[in-house]
Amino acid sequence: KSENKEQAYQINREAAKFFFRALRERANPGYSYMKKRGIAPETLNKFGIGYADSQWDSLYRHLTAMGFKKEKLLELGLISQSKGKYYDKFRGRVMFPIMNTSGKVIGFGGRVVGEGEPKYLNSQESSVFLKKNNLYGLNITRQEIGREDQAILVEGYMDVVSLYQSGVRNVSASLGTALTENQAKLLKRYTDNVVLSYDADQAGINAALRGLDILHRENCRVKVLHVTDGKDPDEFVKKNGKLAFLKLIDQALPFADYKLSLLRKSFDLTTTEGRVDFLRQAARVLSDLSPVEQDIYIKKLAEETKISQGAIRLEINGNTSEKQSGHQ
Ligand code: UTP
Ligand code: MN
Ligand code: MN
Ligand code: MN
Ligand code: MN
Repeated sequence: KSENKEQAYQINREAAKFFFRALRERANPGYSYMKKRGIAPETLNKFGIGYADSQWDSLYRHLTAMGFKKEKLLELGLISQSKGKYYDKFRGRVMFPIMNTSGKVIGFGGRVVGEGEPKYLNSQESSVFLKKNNLYGLNITRQEIGREDQAILVEGYMDVVSLYQSGVRNVSASLGTALTENQAKLLKRYTDNVVLSYDADQAGINAALRGLDILHRENCRVKVLHVTDGKDPDEFVKKNGKLAFLKLIDQALPFADYKLSLLRKSFDLTTTEGRVDFLRQAARVLSDLSPVEQDIYIKKLAEETKISQGAIRLEINGNTSEKQSGHQ
């Protein structure tokens, strides 16, 4: 069993080396593409970024010539089979090797060069690749996360690579899925302080809301920011630089403030109805907080809405007892 795993790591490592070399050959589309996106050679090396050429079976031929069995390559999602023929799964893509915290290659994310669908192709899950248990980049950035006692969580491979290159090195990404409990626990080995920096679209907001709850449940101190220029941290930091991004981190909103700010936007606080609905929802948010935190936010909300602290407290307690008696 563990021999199997060791071999899987070995095959993935060989594939990563194959891709790595290909991106460093003269005039290849992967290198030009990353150059166009502003990624320097040192950064490409640091993350082991490579290129899967556009031939049908170059990796297949390379790995089987090394003596690896095609069954294993199929299992790892490096090749596919169709009509008795084997072909490479990743073709014409920039390849991001995904490593676990021990530095073993467990899978790949492959970005199409330029336009095309799907934009990213990821390794299928295998004996060594469980998305829900791993975070991209963490093998490289975990020391920095520990030193800073803070992690910036982003959506994409390019966000990690680009922030890292700009000098923001305490960064990691969940693997194209919503953040999981296991990923939160993994992060918590290095820090309790997490800043969610997901894309500035509705999907990014939804992902941030889910991530907030998961990290909050693991007792992390979690804040949220969305970039104010460009679609994501990669675009933002390229345009505005490291210091501007650090400023956004400074202004990131804590758990409750982020949720309340979203609620504020979705109700009309100039009408009675709007204020009532807003406060009902706000009370739900506050019921997840400690008594001391609740007290602080109740005072703020009372002032803001001109509704008494007592009434807000009752609303919160109503929620809490509903939760306890298993209603809702
Ligand atoms: P985005 O759509 O935000 O892409 O997906 P991106 O990272 O900004 O990509 P660039 O900048 O255009 O290269 C965020 C992450 O979601 C996953 C990937 O992990 C990606 O980095 N994803 C996205 C997929 O797995 N498949 C897709 O087709 C798209
Ligand atoms: Mn700590
Ligand atoms: Mn997105
Ligand atoms: Mn992007
Ligand atoms: Mn993005």
